[in-house]
Amino acid sequence: MERIVVGADGSEASKDALRWAVDEARLRGAELVALHAWEPLLGAPDVGPASRIDLVELVTDAYEEALQLVTGIVEEVVGDDEAVEVSAVAVEGAAASALIDAARDASLLVVGSRGHGGFEGLLLGSVSQQVAGHSPCPVVIHRRPDAG
Ligand SMILES: Nc1ncnc2c1ncn2[C@@H]1O[C@H](COP(=O)(O)OP(=O)(O)OP(=O)(O)O)[C@@H](O)[C@H]1O
Ligand SMILES: [Mg+2]
Repeated sequence: MERIVVGADGSEASKDALRWAVDEARLRGAELVALHAWEPLLGAPDVGPASRIDLVELVTDAYEEALQLVTGIVEEVVGDDEAVEVSAVAVEGAAASALIDAARDASLLVVGSRGHGGFEGLLLGSVSQQVAGHSPCPVVIHRRPDAG
């Protein structure tokens, strides 16, 4: 079965990209994978020297949070649409490389043109730029109609 991978970071732009991908998956009869990449200790509190147990706990919590985030996005955007098979996955690693890896088994990779990043005026975020340059399969960069 054909597979479409969509990058989900929780931003409205990535939800719009997922909405587009759901329609495309329906047209192609493809399965859809919504992927959220997370980096375990990014944003972790500075706890000083941490024990092994603390670190395991931080990583486990971060994984659960990442999985909840992407599951929530899929529930919100796809709802109980039974016409499309969608799975939500959380992958450890930098977003662009996780998406590029996942794209090896896919026929299409979909990302929003922007994400959560704060720099106004940029047309493309760094993740969209990297996947556009390095994806092993065709890429759709979904631009929101109302994005400046
Ligand atoms: N952690 C992530 N996991 C999965 N997909 C992601 C992740 N971060 C970004 N993406 C995908 O890439 C798209 C563009 O986001 P990107 O991060 O490139 O833009 P930005 O956040 O505006 O800028 P930057 O992160 O470079 O400051 C998002 O709409 C989403 O589809
Ligand atoms: Mg970003």
